[in-house]
Amino acid sequence: MKIGILGTGKVGVTLASKYAAAGHEVLVANSRGPESVLGVVSKIAESVTAATASEVVRCELVLLAVPWLKVPDVLSPSLTWEGRILVDTTNIYASYKQDLVVANLHGDFGSEIVARLAPDAHVVKAFNTLPFDVMFSPTPANMKRVLFIAGDDQAALKTIADLVAQVGLHPVAAGELAVAGRQMELGGPFSGLELFAAVRQESSA
Ligand SMILES: NC(=O)c1ccc[n+]([C@@H]2O[C@H](COP(=O)([O-])OP(=O)(O)OC[C@H]3O[C@@H](n4cnc5c(N)ncnc54)[C@H](OP(=O)(O)O)[C@@H]3O)[C@@H](O)[C@H]2O)c1
Repeated sequence: MKIGILGTGKVGVTLASKYAAAGHEVLVANSRGPESVLGVVSKIAESVTAATASEVVRCELVLLAVPWLKVPDVLSPSLTWEGRILVDTTNIYASYKQDLVVANLHGDFGSEIVARLAPDAHVVKAFNTLPFDVMFSPTPANMKRVLFIAGDDQAALKTIADLVAQVGLHPVAAGELAVAGRQMELGGPFSGLELFAAVRQESSA
């Protein structure tokens, strides 16, 4: 699959590296143009390409991995998604580099804002409920770490569940954006919740 990633920070680079290793073609972009990403990309894999944001958003599946306050700039109304999948990895921090400051959404919810900014995309919320250092840290023997996903389109959820499994996590589809998406947001019951699923042992008989 051709996967586009908007953002080349912790989340973007980690997922670019893992999906390249899993055999996908990956395009990555930040806000400063492909030249500024070349140094990052050269350290990842040959199948990762530095691109412009407009090239990235034309990929079959796009991972949104930018700071929350940049989301309205990235999801410009001029973009058309035509049913492609947009994976929202964001958390609604107004600031997270030093002190953690949560943005005031005045009762609204992050993924629903994302879905309204990209009305013709199938939005799936994923990869946001745990810090990445935790998400990909070692697990107890015969266990996989659970990753919650939420979305309204069953085919998109199935695609993301498969991609989550490809990076060694155990996907749990928790429900629709307006229910589970809210529960995955900062302060919700799934935010920061670390669970493990037993890996099923296949019988050799
Ligand atoms: N880090 C974690 O453990 C973690 C876990 C779960 C969820 N998240 C969420 O995932 C998102 C990304 O987190 P992160 O830790 O990867 O952040 P980060 O390290 O600060 O990286 C953010 C990236 O977004 C890029 N960016 C900013 N504005 C952009 C624009 N207009 N177009 C394209 N790219 C743009 C930045 O590049 P330039 O500014 O250089 O262009 C940078 O590469 C955040 O919303 C965060 O809350 C993070």
